[in-house]
Amino acid sequence: MKKTVLAFSRITQAMAERLQHDFNVIVPNPKLGDIAAQFNEALPEAHGLIGVGRKLGRAQLEGAGKLEVVSSVSVGYDNYDLDYFNERGIALTNTPDVLTESTADLGFALIMGCARRTAELDAWTKAGHWQATVGPAQFGCDVHGKKLGIVGLGNIGAAIARRGRFGFNMQVLYTGNNRKTALEQELGAQLRSLDELLAEADFVCLVVPLSDATRKLIGARELKLMKPSAFLINIARGPVVDEAELVEALQNGTIRGAGLDVYEKEPLADSPLFKLPNALTLPHIGSATAETREAMANRAIDNLRTALLGERPQDLVNPQVWKG
Ligand code: DGY
Repeated sequence: MKKTVLAFSRITQAMAERLQHDFNVIVPNPKLGDIAAQFNEALPEAHGLIGVGRKLGRAQLEGAGKLEVVSSVSVGYDNYDLDYFNERGIALTNTPDVLTESTADLGFALIMGCARRTAELDAWTKAGHWQATVGPAQFGCDVHGKKLGIVGLGNIGAAIARRGRFGFNMQVLYTGNNRKTALEQELGAQLRSLDELLAEADFVCLVVPLSDATRKLIGARELKLMKPSAFLINIARGPVVDEAELVEALQNGTIRGAGLDVYEKEPLADSPLFKLPNALTLPHIGSATAETREAMANRAIDNLRTALLGERPQDLVNPQVWKG
């Protein structure tokens, strides 16, 4: 008998069709009424869940008596209560690697967008303000040759650092728990303490996973350590930054600007950030290209399929639960 897969966020028709080869697939449909009610009704029969962007832990999964695997269509897995998954023996998979380059592209787009004020000046141009040659009020600042500080030199951090080093002749600084000697050699990257990096870098780029150790890593004290000419770029997770303190730092000129793809609460609505021309705000689109989202979907399906058919999946986050 086929096992049952339940989607906990929107999945494409193509994804559903791929899964239907091996499984009964249930995709809650807003046209059929309340999505949460449909999810809860189907949950007791589900052997596998697939999706992204939803908190899953004891409160949500208590009724999921047959659940074996949750396949997240994301690299980050801070939405899942891993302790609870481990207690229940539920395997969790994610989608690393396939989004590294696209997410690094977006990180660099935020660096460029902040430095050259692209969104702000686009709005200014369309509002009809361009009536003479631009002057200092519209000037930005250079990116090439500046210091790029990477907080979390993992795969995505290294991909951003490569763009900075080889595309823009930037000096790369990094901070983290482990020394990365291969990347130091490849990129000329220099290890700093977080405080040193904050004080030195022109662009501070946050690329760390969210954990107890990184929650509110950047608060009032850290923002004050940054140069008034520096920019904070966050493509990690919103809660890595104390958002109220960031708003204050942007209002007071403690730092020059911020490029943000992630927020304490998403979707971002009615935020003081909307009133700040020196905040470039994007709607969590780090991996959101057609090619990358398709690759992530396929990777998540492969993981789910492999695990439900009894083989160890490629991207197992909690190997301790695997009894293979
Ligand atoms: C990821 O894959 O973790 C992206 O940030 C989407 O959540």
